[in-house]
This record gives sequence, C-alpha cells and structure tokens, in this order.
Amino acid sequence: MTKNIEFKRHRRLRSSASMRSLVRENHLRTDDFIYPMFVIEGNTIKNEIASMPGIYQISLDLLVEEVREVHELGIKAIMFFGVIHDKDEQGTGAFVDNGIVQEATKMVKSKFPDMLVIADTCLCEYTSHGHCGVIHNHDVDNDESLKLLAKTAVSQANAGADIIAPSNMMDGFVAVIREALDTAGFKNIPIMSYAVKYSSAFYGPFRDAADSTPQFGDRKTYQMDPANRLEAIREAESDIEEGADFLIVKPALSYLDIVRDVRNNFNVPVVAYNVSGEYSMVKAAALNGWINEKEIVLEKLTSMKRAGADLILTYFAKDAAKWLNE
Ligand code: PBG
Repeated sequence: MTKNIEFKRHRRLRSSASMRSLVRENHLRTDDFIYPMFVIEGNTIKNEIASMPGIYQISLDLLVEEVREVHELGIKAIMFFGVIHDKDEQGTGAFVDNGIVQEATKMVKSKFPDMLVIADTCLCEYTSHGHCGVIHNHDVDNDESLKLLAKTAVSQANAGADIIAPSNMMDGFVAVIREALDTAGFKNIPIMSYAVKYSSAFYGPFRDAADSTPQFGDRKTYQMDPANRLEAIREAESDIEEGADFLIVKPALSYLDIVRDVRNNFNVPVVAYNVSGEYSMVKAAALNGWINEKEIVLEKLTSMKRAGADLILTYFAKDAAKWLNE
C-alpha cells in the first residue's frame, strides 16, 4: 500500500517502556537538586507559607529534623534564606556573625557534615526598605552595597557555608566577593553566581516567605528586563571573567531559551532556579485537582535538564526525590 511512499518510522523507538528507556536522552537524578529553605528567628516555629503550600518558615530548633529528612532523601545541597524581625537600612542581619543563616549553617555543618550548604548572599531579607543593597537618593548604590555583600559572603564562609551564591545583581559582585573570600582565606570556596536574574513577577510568593518585598519602587534598575536575551550573555560573560564557578539562570520555566544559551556559551555548571511562583502555580492547580502534580513536576524538571541545566534549585526537591526513589 505504501510501496512508493517513503517515510521514517520514528515510532520504532517508542514501542515499549524498555525501548523508550533505552533511547531516553535526559534523566533527572536526586543529585541534581538543591533545596531552598527559609529559616526564621525564634523557637518552635513551623509556619506554612500561605502562597507556597508544603514550604515552611522554620526556626533553628526545628530545622534539624527537617534537614535530616532532606538528607535521608539523598538531596546533597540546601540553600538558606533568613527571615528576621529587626531590619535596618544596611541589612546588618545579613552579615553579623550570629545571623540566622550563619547559625543555621553552623548547626547543619555540625550535624550533617556532608550536606552542602549554599548561602544566598543578598541584603533584601534584612533591609528595612526591602532592596538588595543600600539606598542613596532613592536608588540602590552599587559600590556601597558591594562592601556589605562582601562582608556577608565572608561571614557566611566563616560559619561554614560550602558555596557562596550572590543573588543581589549589583555590578561587580563576583569580583568583589571573590577578592574578599580569598583575602579571608577562603580560596577554595566556589561562587555560584545568580548571573542571569530577571526582574520577575514569579518571585511574588518568595517575597511573602522571606518578607522581602521592596517598600518603594521595584528591582528593575538591577534585575534584568524579561524581554532581553543578549543581555543574559553579557551578564554571564562578566561573571565568568570575575571568577564565577557556577552560573544560575532565574526564573527557569519561562527562561529555558536562556538556560540553553548559557549552556551553549559557557563551560561551567549551569543551575536553573525553579522559583516560588513556578512552584505555587503548580501547587494551586494540583490542589484543585486540575493536573497530575507528580507528572507535571517531573516533566517540568526534566525540561530544565533538556534545556541544558546541570542542577536545579527547586522547592519541589523533596517531592521529586521521593518520586524518583519510588
Ligand atoms: C534575593 C532572592 C530572591 C529570590 C531568591 N533570592 C527574591 C528577589 O529577588 O526578589 C527569589 C526566589 C524565588 O522566587 O523562589 N534577592
């Protein structure tokens, strides 16, 4: 019947589960995940974040149990965000030696030495105005902020952080933090730079979780315009020159083209940050029974690997690890 018609039989390679598994190009592994966590000042607190079901602000005393669970699931790396009450203009809470993230880091490193602790280096969770740096004339002062960010990174390294992840989007932050870490004796601590961070509405739920909504204006003078693609390459280039060891692209899902661009242009590990809004949207639909949560999450995370991400920062890390272990 089809004697004279030629076509390819693509379905040959999809004929059974074993066949599909044999030719599968990308794989999700628990080792790919970094789990972000919110540590809050105080005791016996485990507050579920209203816009992020399943994610909590946890006080130090309850954090051990939570980290134990993450560790037992086989997740190798966690990232901390601090939630504090007394904020000031400078974001002092970010760089004091007994800051909340510093204390959480010390605790985890003493109890679970092989758990990698990644410190998010930013001021917005600690400043009274909610911006990622210090304010002069109603704008974030780049170079003044760099000094405080360098101090923050060094105090996080002093507390035992394994990786420093600056997320503030000031120009020159990798160079200044690298220099400060080296001077303080931390030559071997890598920098995971939020090199390509867009000014995104997908961060909404995070700002509830970390209480870090800017009190005036927005972050558009330092975070990137979602319409831009070449600018992502410029940002990544300068961070590589300044000494970044990893490059983060954030958010992930609406920016998979950028993940691919960064993967194709640079040869360091690339991290996709599957941000809070991306989590909340899936959760909301799942809680309404509109989607199959497990299948949707694994498909989305796999799409990040396919786009070229080596690692994925995701609030779904625990769920995904459980599903992969099933
Ligand atoms: C701090 C920071 C933010 C996120 C990670 N680090 C917030 C922001 O830039 O507003 C967002 C993460 C998320 O939405 O999950 N600057």
